Amino acid sequence: MTENPGTPLNPFDEFGGEAVVRQLVDRFYDLMDELPEAYVIRKLHPEDLFGSRQKLFDFLCGWLGGPQYYVEKHGHPRLRARHLPFAIGEVERDAWLLCMEQAMGEILPTGRAHEHILVKLRELADFMRNR
Ligand code: HEM
Repeated sequence: MTENPGTPLNPFDEFGGEAVVRQLVDRFYDLMDELPEAYVIRKLHPEDLFGSRQKLFDFLCGWLGGPQYYVEKHGHPRLRARHLPFAIGEVERDAWLLCMEQAMGEILPTGRAHEHILVKLRELADFMRNR
């Protein structure tokens, strides 16, 4: 079937699919490692970020409209519940968003999906606050 050129792409496709989500996640965790402002959340994560990178990649692929790897591997994300073991307040939320917003600015093409996803991620990060 020929695809209708007017059909809007989902953010996952619009950003460039898995390869770009992988670059985004890698840059995000590299920044978490490097930025002094991010130490407050870096120290909550395991020393080796390999597993964290894979989980965030899997989650974001599905959340952006691509393959549901996270759900296939781990079931329903229950993201807020999974973050309850970590004390997340405004400082931690803002440190997470600092890394994500910088990574998005460097990696993701600008366009209609970019701003929309930024707004949604800010909401999601705020929802993770548990103190
Ligand atoms: C608001 C500030 C946030 C902080 C401080 C934070 C911190 C953490 C920490 C410490 C972990 C455990 C590390 C690990 O499992 O490797 C984690 C796991 C995770 N985070 Fe966050 N996070 C935040 C927001 C978010 C947001 C907004 C998302 C989604 C876009 C997200 C997605 C995930 C995922 C998918 C996992 C793996 C969950 C699992 O399967 O155990 N996090 N986060």
